[in-house]
Amino acid sequence: MERRHLSDEHGVVTSAVAATEIADESAPIDVPPAVDEIVVLDYGGQYSQLIARRVRELGVFSELLPHHVGAAEVARRRPRGLILSGGPASVHSPGAPRLDPELLELGIPVLGICYGMQLLARELGGTVEAAEVGEYGRSQLTIGEPGVLFAGLPQEQPCWMSHRDTVFSPPPGFTALAASTQSPVAAFESSERGIYGIQFHPEVVHTPYGQEVLTRFLRDVCACAMTWSAASIVEDQIARIREQVGDGHVICGLSGGVDSSVAALLVHRAVGDQLTCVFVDHGLMRKNEGEQVIRTFRDTFHVPLVAVDAEERFLAKLAGVSEPETKRKLIGAEFIRVFEEEAAKLGDAKYLVQGTLYSDVIESGGGTGTATIKSHHNVGGLPDDLEFELIEPLRSLFKDEVRAVGLELGLPERLVWRQPFPGPGLAIRIVGGEATKERLDLLRDADHILQDEIRQAGLYRELWQSFCVLPDVRTVGVQGDERTYGYVVVIRAVTSDDAMTADWARLPYDLLEQIASRMINELRDVNRVVLDITSKPPGTIEWE
Ligand code: XMP
Repeated sequence: MERRHLSDEHGVVTSAVAATEIADESAPIDVPPAVDEIVVLDYGGQYSQLIARRVRELGVFSELLPHHVGAAEVARRRPRGLILSGGPASVHSPGAPRLDPELLELGIPVLGICYGMQLLARELGGTVEAAEVGEYGRSQLTIGEPGVLFAGLPQEQPCWMSHRDTVFSPPPGFTALAASTQSPVAAFESSERGIYGIQFHPEVVHTPYGQEVLTRFLRDVCACAMTWSAASIVEDQIARIREQVGDGHVICGLSGGVDSSVAALLVHRAVGDQLTCVFVDHGLMRKNEGEQVIRTFRDTFHVPLVAVDAEERFLAKLAGVSEPETKRKLIGAEFIRVFEEEAAKLGDAKYLVQGTLYSDVIESGGGTGTATIKSHHNVGGLPDDLEFELIEPLRSLFKDEVRAVGLELGLPERLVWRQPFPGPGLAIRIVGGEATKERLDLLRDADHILQDEIRQAGLYRELWQSFCVLPDVRTVGVQGDERTYGYVVVIRAVTSDDAMTADWARLPYDLLEQIASRMINELRDVNRVVLDITSKPPGTIEWE
């Protein structure tokens, strides 16, 4: 069973919330009852999550469900419309996901995108065939008949395509709206039946009128109110949390990452001092990070906070350990011990706050063989027998929405935009050797210089992560006419959307030079600085 993060920013605080519990399709995420909703059915497309996010950006709450959930499950959400996503299969392949015809009988409008459109075409009697050539990337759309979807939009417009099967004729009774470079029927609709299909991807930025097309579907076809926003869930969540908790006591493992921070603040808004946050400083944090978390929560937000200085305990455990997985396991186990001790001192806490995000819900809930499953090599976890009732106020939100809620709640930008940081912290960035206090301090100082320069260059937010690695290696150098034998610091900076793949960041040479010279001048034991130019794959982001 996969253990879930409390905060994927920091990850150390995790819980063994049964994946099965999250995966249980019959457990809809918390949606305020009066909110208009669009259900997106996931046929395994690369951009399925993005469709749901785009719909939300347009002010309509949206859930992504596996394609096989069944019409009853969709109906239970009482959505105003249904979107069928793209997918990698051919509608003609044996075993390809099929369209459940009952979905078309729910009395709600349906929009098929790419594979979704081909499913509609096939189900309703149109012609779908493999074309001689595929259509991948930028294409040109020519509108013949605007219908509802293209009303008021330019007759010629660029769009993004990714398909080989192609619709050659629309189903009987449907109007072909547009053609593209390689697709005779790139869009069709039957306003009467409330069924629409588009071959291109409106959700990607390379389709400049994509949001306009989606708007027409949401507003003009589904009559959605378009008033939802991530921030609008704050009041609703607060009411829910109050109802769930009553006058009970709540505990929250605070890591300093954006997820646990926002979750903690929401719960504090709801139940005030009934919440106690526990912040375990394992001594493996970045420079000043512990103090920042304590200051923000205790002094600015007046959240009851137990800060445990556990550095010595963790360093004692790590003594003599250089094997990465052993480091992870020891840190995870010790974390649980410290957390349990603090929870026991608080005595009567019955509820535990978890920063589970919607992407975690989707990833563990899919089980469709289509969605990408992220393998968290996450450290440790809170064991099953902790017997807390969970509070998961971010369960319906994507990461960028969590940030919006954080800003709404007044969380400082520094915390809202914090780059992800692994649970085992700096210990897994001392590579091939023991994480001693001396090395951790050196790495912390090097990392501080890097962060400082990257922030000053205005690049911090553009990078998924930027950090230093300290291999347990010394190299020969010469400084001030003397031979030196010092540490090598590695600079690792990557861009990424989700950490599944990453590219090394092309930092400006002048910035790299400034970073390297500061490290060598300011850190006595460092005589060499190198840059990691490995993408993921083949490399991972972290070195251990
Ligand atoms: P890799 O190194 O696998 O990392 O490319 C992907 C992302 O996960 C983070 N990471 C961790 N996070 N506990 C965590 O909470 C861990 O043990 C751990 N290892 C890696 C890493 O920082 C990157 O964002």
